[in-house]
Amino acid sequence: MYPGHPAREEGNNMTEKINGNIPDNKTIELLMAHSSCRKFLDRPVPDEVADTIIRCAQHAPTSSYLQAYTIIKVKDKEKRKALAEFAGGQEWVEKAGLVLLFCADLHRLDVMLNISDKNVLHNAELYTVAVTDAALASSRALIAGQAMGLGGVFVGGVRNETEKMAELFNLPELVFPMYAVCMGYPEEVPPQKPRMDIDMISAEDSYPEITGREQLADYERKVSEYFLAITGGRSGRGWIERAEHAISLKPRYSVGEFLSKAGFMTASGPMEEKKNKTR
Ligand SMILES: Cc1cc2nc3c(=O)[nH]c(=O)nc-3n(C[C@H](O)[C@H](O)[C@H](O)COP(=O)(O)O)c2cc1C
Repeated sequence: MYPGHPAREEGNNMTEKINGNIPDNKTIELLMAHSSCRKFLDRPVPDEVADTIIRCAQHAPTSSYLQAYTIIKVKDKEKRKALAEFAGGQEWVEKAGLVLLFCADLHRLDVMLNISDKNVLHNAELYTVAVTDAALASSRALIAGQAMGLGGVFVGGVRNETEKMAELFNLPELVFPMYAVCMGYPEEVPPQKPRMDIDMISAEDSYPEITGREQLADYERKVSEYFLAITGGRSGRGWIERAEHAISLKPRYSVGEFLSKAGFMTASGPMEEKKNKTR
């Protein structure tokens, strides 16, 4: 289990706090105890642990059984350094015991499959399939690591330099490097960040009513308190300001350019000759 988390503390029955009807369950406890870890001990992650993480990722559900992703274990120090720089100096990419680069991948399908209309690989649907497959696999990887006592963090900041990543890792067309998942034995695990009220992010049978910022007033207070506590009173910005800042500061329009250059989402319909044949 994940060291330092409240779910680990003696007598702290996390699941009971969630809902009295849910029986004790280690998986639920682990999921409810998540927080990203960016400080790692100088302790290697054994190969068997890394392999287990990758195998767990592989067992994630995958759209139409396509397995449209590739995971690159980044061991080379220079490559780690480059990734950390691409991400704007995120040092945990260098210090983590294990770094896995998750790529949405339609290239393997392109090479292996005999597809009559290759345009399907270049449409928005298969892009969505590949990104979803990679996201599911990566989520499982982090959970598997946490279940074995590791901490970790996703680093999407590497997409500042998507083109350079493609060069560094010899990525062919139709491969999109999405993010690195950095894991290691935690030196320090931060307290959990509060999430929005469940009624804001879920609803029954129809989209929830979103009226305006006032709905987030309580949440703003909680987020502000959280950051005041972890920064020793230095920063009390709420979620709204943080989200506005994050979105505006890193628009990464180059990701769209990279995707079309790599052949993603360049076709909106079947190939012309096929269209003609069916007329
Ligand atoms: C796709 C993705 C990309 C992320 N990229 C970064 C990143 O570049 N640097 C970082 O420090 N955290 C990154 N994070 C971690 C988020 O900041 C973090 O999950 C979020 O603030 C919620 O905090 P928590 O994970 O501790 O609950 C990323 C998370 C995801 C899912």
